Amino acid sequence: MALWHDRAGRVSGLKIATLVAVTVPALMLAADALLGGLGARPYDEAIHRSGDWAIRILTVSLAVTPAIRILTYPRLISIRRMLGVGALAYLLLHVLLYIADQGFDLPKVGSEIVLRTYQTIGFAALLILAALGATSFDGMVRRLGRRWTQLHNLVYVAAALAAVHFFMQTKIQAYEASLIAGFLLTLGLYRLAAKRRLALTAPLVLAAIAVLGGLLTAGAEALWFWAGTSVPPLRVLEANLMLPDTIRPAWWVLAAGLAVACLPVLRRRIGTPARTPAERTA
Ligand code: HEM
Repeated sequence: MALWHDRAGRVSGLKIATLVAVTVPALMLAADALLGGLGARPYDEAIHRSGDWAIRILTVSLAVTPAIRILTYPRLISIRRMLGVGALAYLLLHVLLYIADQGFDLPKVGSEIVLRTYQTIGFAALLILAALGATSFDGMVRRLGRRWTQLHNLVYVAAALAAVHFFMQTKIQAYEASLIAGFLLTLGLYRLAAKRRLALTAPLVLAAIAVLGGLLTAGAEALWFWAGTSVPPLRVLEANLMLPDTIRPAWWVLAAGLAVACLPVLRRRIGTPARTPAERTA
């Protein structure tokens, strides 16, 4: 079956759109590499861009399951694997570029991974994501049964490690790292709420998660600045409350969470599409 077919063998617009969205950053990176658009340190720039896309796509892949519950739209499941594999592809490119930047000196790369804590943490995330990628095929899902779900729950551990890796190497420029950490924390809250059997279609539950997610984002950012730069955490929290010229990550997370809280209402107005036969039997 082609990548853009659904389980019933039909062309899926959703899968095509996802495939395009996942591929475009790689094409732009390749174009910049060919046309000399990567600046004075092309490897450095490419390592950063591929790392950024790996963690962004990983975050979006983790949003699929909550989105299915919030929108009561099971068809989204068809893009989860594509997003996961896409994140892994960017990650492999990220590491390959790093190895190339080190002149393919594998002993040196190995010792850097052992000696630099942020790389050790990144490596642990890589091992988990590689194991998940290797077991993402239908045959493996069938073979592993319940153990497949247990194994694939490790994706949250990998995402947390990847976020720490991101924070550690960004040092003081922690804007996007805080944003990603905030989205990941909010996704963790959706998961917790679903485990506690709270309805993810209830706008009030979603609004509460949005507020908690915003607060956790501000807390994570403050904690990071305190640990990395000794800036008092209260000063960072104050900066979050003051709405300065740049909108802090916590506000973006809150705004996104509140927008999500409106979705079930919109969904009910638009109506639920009929499920395909493949989805009904899944
Ligand atoms: C063996 C594993 C890994 C190695 C050796 C590695 C290496 C690196 C290096 C060398 C940098 C640039 C550091 C600097 O310029 O000071 C970096 C940045 C980064 N890495 Fe990794 N990494 C690994 C795993 C991961 C994983 C698992 C993810 C996410 C899924 C990830 C995402 C990122 C991100 C987002 C950045 C920052 C990009 C930016 O600042 O714009 N890396 N990594």
